[in-house]
Amino acid sequence: MKFLLILLLMLNLCSCQKSNRQLLADKGYQEEEIELILQLKEENLERFLNDEYGNEALEFINAPWFQEEKLDAYLSYYGRLDTGKIIDMVNKGILNEDLAARLEELYGSDYYLEKNEDLYLKYLEVYSDVRDVLEIVNTKRYKELYSDIMPTDLSKDYLMLINKYYQLPADYEPDDLVYVDSGLGKGMLREEVYEAYKSLYKDALDLGYNLQVVSAYRSYDYQKGLYEKYLRYDPREIVDTYSARPGHSEHQSGLCLDVSIPGYSLDDFYLTDASRWLAENCWKYGFIIRYPEDKTEITGYQGEPWQLRYLGRQIAEDVYRRGITYDEYYACFVEE
Ligand code: DAL
Repeated sequence: MKFLLILLLMLNLCSCQKSNRQLLADKGYQEEEIELILQLKEENLERFLNDEYGNEALEFINAPWFQEEKLDAYLSYYGRLDTGKIIDMVNKGILNEDLAARLEELYGSDYYLEKNEDLYLKYLEVYSDVRDVLEIVNTKRYKELYSDIMPTDLSKDYLMLINKYYQLPADYEPDDLVYVDSGLGKGMLREEVYEAYKSLYKDALDLGYNLQVVSAYRSYDYQKGLYEKYLRYDPREIVDTYSARPGHSEHQSGLCLDVSIPGYSLDDFYLTDASRWLAENCWKYGFIIRYPEDKTEITGYQGEPWQLRYLGRQIAEDVYRRGITYDEYYACFVEE
């Protein structure tokens, strides 16, 4: 009799298990998924049976590092971040509403670079604005200026980046430099840059702005002499805000030029209508204002409304429309 009762009880349990299995199968779960669900605590299994949990919960259950007691916490962030990231951060106890919102902004940004993931997470703890974090990390601004210097990638040609972290070799000199016509100012530029500048000059002149080239190509040695001359008048930290150290000047690339109009020094150029026209229109000819007034923290230079950098029409337009510096643009869309 006792044996019969035990047998009946076992059969009963077995049929229960079978019916849960069957119920889950009826809901469309696959065999392997059902196995996972049946291993959960009874209350969680019940939730699957009552349709309180579904495929979303299953995604977490299926993922590495899943911890059952954290399932509801994972689910509260479902769809906002990658499943693996939710699990990792909830497990570490660092995910909260504020961080989730900032991470959504980070991952949804045009300027997010996967290779910088760890640094973004580090600097999100320091800076509240996600755009600041993206910019500081992408442009390597978290490093001291003129530290960890890399050679400029010359293969990028018109798109090469030259700044306080990227340096041209001392013997770099473009092989297609041409002299600027005396009526347009003085100096040498790369041929394509000069052609583009001539159209800009002509259109500006039609509007009454006689833009003159004040300085264009400068060799490494010339820049060295210039920088050292400035050091006689100002301390290095000041000179570094207006003059590039040798090897770090875009002038050495033949891709940039300083312009002003007769009667105005470079420092006064910002007062002219010509300078406003230039800022709004130079992209149409393939140029950008390389050091805008409001981006000094990023470029490391005081505003220089007179310094044009050639990038070609398409990229110059993109940089202009995005309203970002070339340092940021290069990191996101040019550098591999
Ligand atoms: N004035 C710019 C920064 C240069 O020296 O290249």
